[in-house]
Amino acid sequence: MNVLVIIPTYQERETLGEAVERTRSAVPGAHLLVVDDASPDGTGDLADDLAAQDAHVHVLHRAGKDGLGRAYVAGFRWALERDYDVVVEMDADGSHQPKHLPALLAALEETGADLVLGSRWVPGGEVVNWPASRLMLSRGGNAYTRLALGLPVLDATGGYRVYRAAALARLPLEQIHSHGYCFQVDMTRRIHAGGGLIVERPITFVERRLGESKMSRAIVLEALWRVTAWGVAYRLSRLLGRARPRSQQAADEAGHG
Ligand code: GDD
Ligand code: MN
Repeated sequence: MNVLVIIPTYQERETLGEAVERTRSAVPGAHLLVVDDASPDGTGDLADDLAAQDAHVHVLHRAGKDGLGRAYVAGFRWALERDYDVVVEMDADGSHQPKHLPALLAALEETGADLVLGSRWVPGGEVVNWPASRLMLSRGGNAYTRLALGLPVLDATGGYRVYRAAALARLPLEQIHSHGYCFQVDMTRRIHAGGGLIVERPITFVERRLGESKMSRAIVLEALWRVTAWGVAYRLSRLLGRARPRSQQAADEAGHG
């Protein structure tokens, strides 16, 4: 399996070096792609230095800060233009521990899943060092997402996950407009709607010690309105689906519809 670990960065000069080093030793065969949004602190230069020392490390420079979702879509395109079978999402700040990666990759192989979620909210999963406010945001966000979208997972918002490249290739990446962290929910619902198999495996998420979270009020508000809009669309499509005459449904299923 050719594995690419995508690490999006904005202002992560203090954390990126350790993330790359620990990932390289946890999964020595994997390649890494740092997607940097022209961080003013010079994270992109650091990434170039790391790439110059190690043929497994690659860098994609973007013109300016344009959101986590856009950074990942650019990374997915880069991966799909090359010969990777598996694509991983991982934060740069140490919260996503590379030591979990072998188990997440093994789960993809063993279950035949299209997406393996590193999950904080399944038994065995946990979060270390988050304030109560952030725990409530994640738990509440996941509860609302489950209710609105009917997703069969406990952690649809997390950012540590493994995709089968073939499943990414089936998605209309040009239609993914999520900017912020709701991108994770967007990807989860799209894989689910396409009939993809999603499994969860426990991870321990450790809040960063260096640098700062880029979570903002704008990111929370975008997530709220997008999940609500997707939820309305999902309910409507199910209603309309049920309202169709049986003969039409049968024709659709037979592929003549
Ligand atoms: N290229 C790029 N552009 N990278 C970004 C941007 C951006 O606009 N915004 C954030 N990042 C990078 C950060 O540099 C970091 O590597 C990663 O995305 C996660 O950012 P954090 O700001 O550390 O996120 P968090 O710890 O608050 O949130 C975590 O939990 C969320 C909720 O579960 C992440 O795992 C999120 O992915 C997750 O949705
Ligand atoms: Mn973080």
